[in-house]
Amino acid sequence: MKVIKSVDELREYVAGLNGSIGLVPTMGALHEGHMSLIKRAVSESKNVIVSIFVNPTQFLPDEDLHKYPRKEEADIKICELCGASAVFMPSADDMYFENEPCVIAPPKFASILEGKTRPGHFDGVLRVLTKLFNLTKANRAYFGKKDAQQLLIVKNMVKTMFLNIEIIACEIIRESDGLALSSRNAYLKEIDKCNALRLSRSLFNASNMIKNGETDAAKIKESMLNTLEPLEVDYVAIVDREFNEISNIKLTDTIILVAAKVGNTRLIDNIWI
Ligand code: PAF
Repeated sequence: MKVIKSVDELREYVAGLNGSIGLVPTMGALHEGHMSLIKRAVSESKNVIVSIFVNPTQFLPDEDLHKYPRKEEADIKICELCGASAVFMPSADDMYFENEPCVIAPPKFASILEGKTRPGHFDGVLRVLTKLFNLTKANRAYFGKKDAQQLLIVKNMVKTMFLNIEIIACEIIRESDGLALSSRNAYLKEIDKCNALRLSRSLFNASNMIKNGETDAAKIKESMLNTLEPLEVDYVAIVDREFNEISNIKLTDTIILVAAKVGNTRLIDNIWI
């Protein structure tokens, strides 16, 4: 497996590739969720490039850019174990220029939920992904459903900008107790762990209510908020696949999302109905 640290080196590497290219964009601190993306990419593409880049433009000034977990050596080993062909780990100076065109995610999708709390976040995500898609010339890129809003916004960019890349959505990977895997789980103190489970539990309860015939979104939200108590809840939302808020559950076209603070750590989770 090749470890590539500069844009020039990546261009040279990609120019020499034959066959399909799969890209797994990450910010490192890789866990089993990322591993499942890499393994899926390896099973579908001849060449798999994993990018590891803590992208500064998607963090707000008061967010955790500087303390975001960085585990370069372990990440390289994980990529190799999962069968990736290359890891791309550029510096921010190599990726960004002083004068660049603006990339703005459509406000309809980017100003709600995550975007309401994190204005500008999705602009930064699209900005770095545009660069990564162009540099790697990937045929496919793999994303986890845990960042459901990101997935929608990336798919929208690919469709509307006629980008020649297929976006593959991969299932959320959870701990055996239900906690959705996230690099930010590393911030959780022992005492927070029990409370962190309230997010997945609220979603599983919602899913059970639906299985038992409940279709009223307001009732489901109310029950979720009870399960989430005493966490500081940012949002509980019930939307269709286009992220329009819905008042009645539509089977196969509903996503239930939750964001809440556990101690000082903001966690998100969701379930697709
Ligand atoms: O989901 C992430 O880890 C990031 O938002 C991504 C897609 C790697 C872009 O920096």
